[in-house]
Amino acid sequence: MKNHIVINDVGPRDGLQNQPKHLSVHERLTLINALVDAGLPAIEVGAFVSPKAVPAMASTDEIYAQLPKQNGVEYSVLIPNPKGFQTGAALNVSTMSLVVAASSTMNEKNIRMTTAQAMSMCFDVLGRAKSLERNVQAYVATAWACPFEGAVNKSDVFQVTEELLKAGASHIVVADTIGAAAPDAVYTLMSEMAVEFGAQNLSCHFHDTRAMGVANVYAAIQAGVRRFDASIGGLGGCPFAPGATGNVATEDVVLLVEQMGFETGVDMKKLLEASDLATELTGTARGGHAKAWLKQQ
Ligand code: COA
Ligand code: ZN
Repeated sequence: MKNHIVINDVGPRDGLQNQPKHLSVHERLTLINALVDAGLPAIEVGAFVSPKAVPAMASTDEIYAQLPKQNGVEYSVLIPNPKGFQTGAALNVSTMSLVVAASSTMNEKNIRMTTAQAMSMCFDVLGRAKSLERNVQAYVATAWACPFEGAVNKSDVFQVTEELLKAGASHIVVADTIGAAAPDAVYTLMSEMAVEFGAQNLSCHFHDTRAMGVANVYAAIQAGVRRFDASIGGLGGCPFAPGATGNVATEDVVLLVEQMGFETGVDMKKLLEASDLATELTGTARGGHAKAWLKQQ
């Protein structure tokens, strides 16, 4: 396991939620199936959120029901509240992901709650998850910077993380929601969090807004993190976080970590086909920075 890195492709959720063009259920399933074929071990397939708030994620329940199962892929779905949890629990979703920002204004914009309200909602959901034996993890969003409040205090990130783990979150995803973190800050925060909470309980989620996505993945690896979100073709952006562009591209992350000697289980040729498909379906996915070079190999 030491030389293995798990990549969770969030393209079908983070990637598609903010697209001007809303993909059909069939198109979203085609993209997910291409990622399954490419050997991704984990995929975020959608969100059980208000279709008024995020129209592109409507019908995630239909998508979940039609996914190829029994193939060892860990499918996750974002849930913003107890109603999302109910939907996920009824469909036996393997992993549900709560989201709490470390900065209060972001919580108010994203889920219309203060951080205190969001935390008490999470405790409620995590309590229900425990009694129903469901797997719920939590995103700590705006862990380095908030589009509304600027730099985020490390103590706020620690406090939210500690309380979520204590309440039963199976895993914490530390997210640079707007892509404003730099590698030194990533290394510092993730090293300290790894000591406090255990690297095996943490993963990282980076956006490539300032072209530091891959450098930030490298810094987090140095801090001991072995699990990362990335998005096929670099798709992505949050409708409630101004300034966020796409996630770090899956093809760039796979290339980086494999050159470093880690295994991912991903088939690059098929991954590039999935990246082409993401571009074809959305018209906007730029493709990873390394894509042109990778295609010549
Ligand atoms: N799934 C589907 N519908 C939901 C829902 C869920 N999890 N939670 C609430 N709704 C519906 C309600 O039924 C209600 O519908 P109606 O207007 O037809 O009666 C409507 O959404 C408003 O519900 P309310 O409880 O008043 O929520 P709100 O208006 O305060 O919005 C959220 C809160 C969390 C539902 C909404 O902001 C949201 O879905 N945000 C998504 C955030 C997100 O995905 N961010 C992505 C980056 S992390
Ligand atoms: Zn994101």
